[in-house]
Amino acid sequence: MAIPTSPKERNLNGSAAVAAAVVPAAGRGERLGPGAPKALRELGGVPLLVHAVRALARSRAVGLVVVAAPPDGVAEVVALLDSHGLDGKDVRVVAGGADRQESVRLGLAAVPEEVDIVLVHDAARPLVPVEVVDAVAAAVRAGADAVVPAVPLADTVKRVDPQAPGVPEPVLETPDRSALRAVQTPQGFRRSVLHEVHEKALAEESAGALPPVTDDAGLVERFGGRVVVVPGHEEAFKVTRPLDLVLAEAVLARRRASDGF
Ligand code: CTP
Ligand code: MG
Repeated sequence: MAIPTSPKERNLNGSAAVAAAVVPAAGRGERLGPGAPKALRELGGVPLLVHAVRALARSRAVGLVVVAAPPDGVAEVVALLDSHGLDGKDVRVVAGGADRQESVRLGLAAVPEEVDIVLVHDAARPLVPVEVVDAVAAAVRAGADAVVPAVPLADTVKRVDPQAPGVPEPVLETPDRSALRAVQTPQGFRRSVLHEVHEKALAEESAGALPPVTDDAGLVERFGGRVVVVPGHEEAFKVTRPLDLVLAEAVLARRRASDGF
C-alpha cells in the first residue's frame, strides 16, 4: 500500500488514507533472561518482531511500518523481515537508541512528512489483535490527539514506599481499582503531537531534568496534552518475563488450532 504523497490523495472517508506504525524493537530483553535481543526471540518458530509487524500490517489502517532495530542488528533485522512475507506493506528499518524513548524518536524521524497519523507499537506485544490496531487508528482519525488501548486491572494495586531489597515496604495507599487501567500498545497519535512531545522531552533531557516515561502517551500528558483510552485486549499483553513467553505460546497454539492462523 502506498503512502499518499499529497493531501489530495485521500480515502473515501476524506481523511488521510493510511497511518504509519513505529515499532521500538531495540531493547535487550534483560527481564526475559539470557539469549538474543527480545524482539528476535522466537514464538511458534517466528521472531516476536515478525509477529508484531504482521499484526500491524494486517490492519488496513497501516500503510508503512518503521522498525527501530538493535543498533548492532540492523542488517539482521532487514534480512529477517525480507524473508517473511508482509502483505506488500512498506517496511523500513532504522537503528534504535539507548532507551525506548530514543528508539521511538529515531523511528518517527523516518516516517514521511505527509503521514499524519502515527501508531507506536512494542515489538514485545506480538499477539495484538487487529481490532485493537484498527480501533486506535480510528480514534485518532476521528480527532483525538493521543489514544491508548487499555484494560481493567485484575489485581488490587498498592502504592508503597520502596525499600532496599529484603526490607518490607510500607503501604502508603490503595488506589480505587475501578478507575485504574493497564495500558498497552499500539498507542496512536496525531503525528505533529507525537513529534512535538518527543522534541520537548529531548530538550528537557539535555537540560538534565525529568525521569523517563515508559510510554509515549505519558509524554503527551507531561506536556499538557489530552490522552483518551479505548478498549485494549488481553492478548495484547507484553512479553516481559519468561512466563509471558509460555502464555504467548499457548495463545498462539490456540489460534493456530482454531483458525489455522
Ligand atoms: N525498546 C527499544 N529501545 C530500547 C529499549 C526498549 O526499542 N533501547 C523497545 C523494546 O524492544 C520493546 C519495547 O521497547 O519492544 C518495550 O520495552 P521492554 O518491554 O522494556 O523491552 P526491553 O527493554 O527489551 O526489556 P527489558 O526492559 O527487560 O530489558
Ligand atoms: Mg525495557
